[in-house]
Amino acid sequence: MLDEDWKFINKEVENGAIPGINTVNWETVAIPHDWAISGEFDKSIDAQETMVIEDGERVPKMRTGRTGGLPHIGVGWYRKSLEIPSSYKNKRIHVKFDGAMSHAKVYLNGEFVGEWPYGYASFGFDVTDYINFGRENILAVRLENKPFSSRWYPGAGLYRNVRMVVTNLVFVKQWGTSLTTPDIEDGKGTVNLKTTVLNKSGKSKKVTVDTQIISFTGETVARISDEIVIDKELTVEQNLDVSSPKLWSVELPTLYTAVTKILDGNKELDAYETPFGFRYFEFTNNDGFFLNGKRVQLNGVCLHHDLGPLGAAVNLSSLRHRMKLLQEMGCNSIRTSHNPPTPEMLELADEMGFLILDEIFDEWRLAKTKNGYNTLWDEWAEKDMVAWIHRDRNHPSVIAWSIGNEVREQGGKDGLETCQFLVDICRREDPTRPTTAGFNNWRGAINNGLADAVDLPAWNYKPQYYNSIHNEHPEWTMYASETASTVSSRGEYFFPAKERVHYTREPYHSNSFDMEFPRWATSPDREFATQDSFKFMAGEYVWTGFDYLGEPTPYNVEWPARSSYFGIIDLCGIPKDRYFLYQSKWSDKEVLHVLPHWNWKAGEKVSVHCYTSFDKGELFLNGKSLGIREKDPANLYTTYRLVWDDITYKPGEIKVVALDENDNPLKEAVVKTAGEPAKIVLETDRNQILADGKELAFVTVSVVDEDGTLCPRANNLIYFSVVGEGSVKAVGNGDPTSLESFIKPFRKTFNGKCMVLVQSTKTAGEISLKAESEGLESEEIRIETSM
Ligand code: GAL
Repeated sequence: MLDEDWKFINKEVENGAIPGINTVNWETVAIPHDWAISGEFDKSIDAQETMVIEDGERVPKMRTGRTGGLPHIGVGWYRKSLEIPSSYKNKRIHVKFDGAMSHAKVYLNGEFVGEWPYGYASFGFDVTDYINFGRENILAVRLENKPFSSRWYPGAGLYRNVRMVVTNLVFVKQWGTSLTTPDIEDGKGTVNLKTTVLNKSGKSKKVTVDTQIISFTGETVARISDEIVIDKELTVEQNLDVSSPKLWSVELPTLYTAVTKILDGNKELDAYETPFGFRYFEFTNNDGFFLNGKRVQLNGVCLHHDLGPLGAAVNLSSLRHRMKLLQEMGCNSIRTSHNPPTPEMLELADEMGFLILDEIFDEWRLAKTKNGYNTLWDEWAEKDMVAWIHRDRNHPSVIAWSIGNEVREQGGKDGLETCQFLVDICRREDPTRPTTAGFNNWRGAINNGLADAVDLPAWNYKPQYYNSIHNEHPEWTMYASETASTVSSRGEYFFPAKERVHYTREPYHSNSFDMEFPRWATSPDREFATQDSFKFMAGEYVWTGFDYLGEPTPYNVEWPARSSYFGIIDLCGIPKDRYFLYQSKWSDKEVLHVLPHWNWKAGEKVSVHCYTSFDKGELFLNGKSLGIREKDPANLYTTYRLVWDDITYKPGEIKVVALDENDNPLKEAVVKTAGEPAKIVLETDRNQILADGKELAFVTVSVVDEDGTLCPRANNLIYFSVVGEGSVKAVGNGDPTSLESFIKPFRKTFNGKCMVLVQSTKTAGEISLKAESEGLESEEIRIETSM
């Protein structure tokens, strides 16, 4: 991994690639690195005078915060010194980028090696011919983010991992295996593996391609060897049988690995691992999605790639933390909107049992943003498609190739032709997975033939039409590629709690009762009801699982709004109320979550909602019953929640007691009136983390009163200090209007809470994190770090 000791500068440097230039003013950074996340917010950054047709705009508006208001525009140079020993003279040296934002140009020792403009693509180069063996080599990368090139915060820099891979002269090509499990029957599984081998020795070679299938317990369960004579490049096909394979499923994601060795006699020239799973699936037109013969409702979320306070910089423990939160909510699927994810995300999905809709484009030939992918289309579309499919095709988690989101071609000229071009590439490169696309212009996509051209036509925000489309086209297999887009700010409640469309208020917060949404969108409840009615729908993908930087709808023109309100979980990783609504519907957990907080003005008229897996509950205010409510489909907002309106607020406590059909109590949840802020409480997601200099502990910070009740409006400034083997990597509080820094060791709480991300060093030991604030009792916790 080329992760340490890079030099970086955030400006154009004329001779940036040339060895020997003076780099004393360059910063030393570790990769993955997002140069913009540590910068200051500024409303003028990438402010876009634009008309967003998808938002129903008919006149251009000056949109601030659309891409997050952080300084991601411009040029950045990275340089890394590599010592390549003379003993590598008979080797091939490859440099691989999981993604670089964006317009990467790669140089070695001052010479241009290659480029890859799409910031979300993985790519690599064989740089052997540029190497000075036995001497220092300078790898340099120039990146440039243009203004008006994104609809959200893209991040900036070498934000994903970079690796150097050294091989012999005969080796397996990058992403050179294609593995399928064509027949899975009782007691048997067939593996079909195609391996592309390259020979750079300049003369034809006889080698053995030896593949072993290793089970999850480490046993070799199948093996095959083939002798080949290879000139320059050859693809070898091998078939192996595995008896009684354990299937890969959402509940039990069992993985196997194909280890392919290239042998020259007894000498191992290369060993290439292809992790995979035995699983089969089917999308049906009438009953939705089946995995291993069993119907699975796709309870999905869309995710952008940024990791909140870390920006776009990939961090494995942050990804894992996010996916764990989603899984606990009952989410089993992710749409990687609207671009290829970092490879680690697919590895985690394989390991944790997520189903992935792997998406590549938000834009084809027709522009959504002036300098967006449309400018790359002609030269790069096919190359990006092939690289994407080759990289991702062996992951058992990936269940479809999504070739586009709301592309302008839906209703436009050449739409079908472009769509067919992409579908054909998918079928050519991987005939085992269906193609799909998310359509919002449903009529356009149908009339233009796009909906028919993909295997799974999918709809963004169209619950009202699923049934009529199904009646018109009963042969289509459909799912909802984007749903809800409900907006809320964690802990912000406004009365009356009622449905409002595209509603804005000062100070730029949306209601946490989860009934507000933009014009094209809806509430979680509406989508639940529709999905429940129509089993031909395979499921839904909520926009979005987490808040993300940029796109602060409905506050698109209201600075300092600079990140989304769509998340079920806020930008720093704290669940909003909506989390429990989804959990009550999607998971088999007992959920009883009561909102709002209980600090109002005496006499105020308030509502109480309960997001619960129970069908019935009784509300008590200071011990006095305010009535029993049952889930009742007569009204949309009582179908999936229990609702008590028109309550006259009195301080004290509210309690909801979940009841069975005979009114016996099953569980209770209490919300109390908080007193003045008195102390800080820290809660870490883990007490022990790896001492690898990368892992993070996510520590939730709460401000509570003397009795430990959360102060629901507290906005105290908390200072963090770390002693021992760690440091404060980032902070956040989930307030979409906060212009505070993500990297300074202090943060205001937003509605009583904020988050601090503590990172280990490479030395095992102990981290002690202290949180202090004027007038509050401080708190200290310890986290162990181990090798
Ligand atoms: C959709 C779009 C998403 C996001 C969302 C917000 O139309 O596909 O990228 O913009 O709207 O509601």
